Amino acid sequence: MGQLQDKYKNYRDPQKYIQAGVYPYFREITSKQGTEVTDIDGHKILMFGSNAYTGLTNDERVIAAAQRALEKYGTGCAGSRFLNGTLDLHVQLEKELAEFENKDEVLCFSTGFAVNAGVIAMVVGRGDYIICDDRDHASIVDGRRLSFATQLHYKHNDMQDLERVLQKLPQEAIKLIIVDGVFSMEGDLAKLPEIIELKKKYNCSVMVDEAHGLGVFGRQGRGVCDHFGVTDDVDLSWGHSRRAWLL
Ligand SMILES: Cc1ncc(COP(=O)(O)O)c(C=O)c1O
Repeated sequence: MGQLQDKYKNYRDPQKYIQAGVYPYFREITSKQGTEVTDIDGHKILMFGSNAYTGLTNDERVIAAAQRALEKYGTGCAGSRFLNGTLDLHVQLEKELAEFENKDEVLCFSTGFAVNAGVIAMVVGRGDYIICDDRDHASIVDGRRLSFATQLHYKHNDMQDLERVLQKLPQEAIKLIIVDGVFSMEGDLAKLPEIIELKKKYNCSVMVDEAHGLGVFGRQGRGVCDHFGVTDDVDLSWGHSRRAWLL
């Protein structure tokens, strides 16, 4: 037996929960996603776990457009966006999203995890600082770990604690505060107006993960930054369509 097989041979928790009929993961759905779905046994069940807040996944116009795109472009991009995988459709979408959010540029990613893993370490590195709310999403934690920047955090939504952290940092250093707009486990909102005040006072930048904000808060679903009227003061943000884009 190999080392890994040896390590995990006694790990039987999933099997225990499957047998007890309470294992919640990888459950097969056989219908369209919606507020009600059909499971593999044909049961109609209410869906409380969905992130498709806008309902656009089932919108007939979106389905018809996706069918036309499949006919024209096939089922894949045959390469990374960076090289040969950028379609005119990507660029059109990014332009329209930038206009919608009143931002200079938008870049689409395939998942929210990919945004946080791909962007944070790219924009801050050695000598810089990342300051996170201690309830930030796990993908922000994974993303920040990839950066050589010094990593600090403050108590959830505690602006005094954030200020305590910022006070100790050099004024001229690059300091990126990263928060969930809507915290995914707690469901509360980041205190963006106060965060923006502190950003200005301590010369920082701010990134907002709008995974659960876009499509829900703000004018026509422009997100939590729009809800608080701070979009122009936020340096980077991203949200799900439900799929991700970076603003
Ligand atoms: C706040 C937050 N950020 C990031 C993600 C990761 O997004 P994805 O599941 O598209 O990778 C999630 C997941 O829903 C989330 O809730």
